[in-house]
Amino acid sequence: MAPDRPAAGRSVPEPARPIVDVRHLTLTYQTADKPVYALSDVSLTIGKGDFISLIGPSGCGKTTLMRVVADLEQPTSGEVTVNGMTPEQARLKRAYGYVFQAPALYPWRTVERNVMLPLEIMGLPRAERKARAAEQLRNVGLAGFEKKFPWQLSGGMQQRVSIARALAFEPELLLMDEPFGALDEITRDHLNLQLTQLWRRTRKTCIFVTHSIAEAVFLSTRIVVMSPRPGRILDVIDCDLPAERTLDIRETPEFAALAHRVRDGLKEGHSYDD
Ligand SMILES: Nc1ncnc2c1ncn2[C@@H]1O[C@H](COP(=O)(O)OP(=O)(O)OP(=O)(O)O)[C@@H](O)[C@H]1O
Ligand SMILES: [Mg+2]
Repeated sequence: MAPDRPAAGRSVPEPARPIVDVRHLTLTYQTADKPVYALSDVSLTIGKGDFISLIGPSGCGKTTLMRVVADLEQPTSGEVTVNGMTPEQARLKRAYGYVFQAPALYPWRTVERNVMLPLEIMGLPRAERKARAAEQLRNVGLAGFEKKFPWQLSGGMQQRVSIARALAFEPELLLMDEPFGALDEITRDHLNLQLTQLWRRTRKTCIFVTHSIAEAVFLSTRIVVMSPRPGRILDVIDCDLPAERTLDIRETPEFAALAHRVRDGLKEGHSYDD
């Protein structure tokens, strides 16, 4: 008998499979005048339930990295898997929800019908579509706004509708590209709090792009600091703050120390020549 075979009836625990695995990813855009080196040798493993923030100077390739994970760009070299699949397979299986920087809602559809759109495409029955939309709108604090149109809502509320839409088909992975970038600070604080509570409830794996150090420290389990273009990973910082976070945590020395480390990483990588 092979010595390493488990005894009958006993199962050997499998090592946890990463939700996103990026290996030696390089991406160069071919443009009319000269190639643009967007990402250089980026490797990153994201486990189930992680909340990862990508932070780095404008143009360093954060959106590009998300778009590769979402199968919206093809790497020049390197490999990416999403839940053990190629990005294309993951896209076809709707393994992720994508929240864009602008809410991208259809103005002629009500809030509810915007959230139900991907479910219609998936062919879910009407009753289930309605139930899921109601649940996700409740999740983002928008119960009662089902019949409004997007243009009747504030920017922050529209952004919450797009988060509800991304959550509605229950993806394993949520990709969010600066979803709160255009909002005032008070609204942003409020949405940060809602998002961290939502994450605690659902434990979705999240990749979140931000330019705000405080937002990254507040929301994340890990922060990935990127260099200016071509984007490389300069530092990966474990955010070991308690999972239960209120906005007051931003006043603590632990929070300040983490923010300091992110700022140092960004400063180190910064250059002003383009
Ligand atoms: N389709 C494209 N064709 C050519 N170059 C591109 C394309 N998309 C992005 N780039 C370039 O690749 C680099 C990385 O762009 P990307 O949008 O990923 O940056 P980013 O980190 O998301 O920036 P920001 O913080 O401003 O959103 C930039 O220099 C950008 O000009
Ligand atoms: Mg971007």
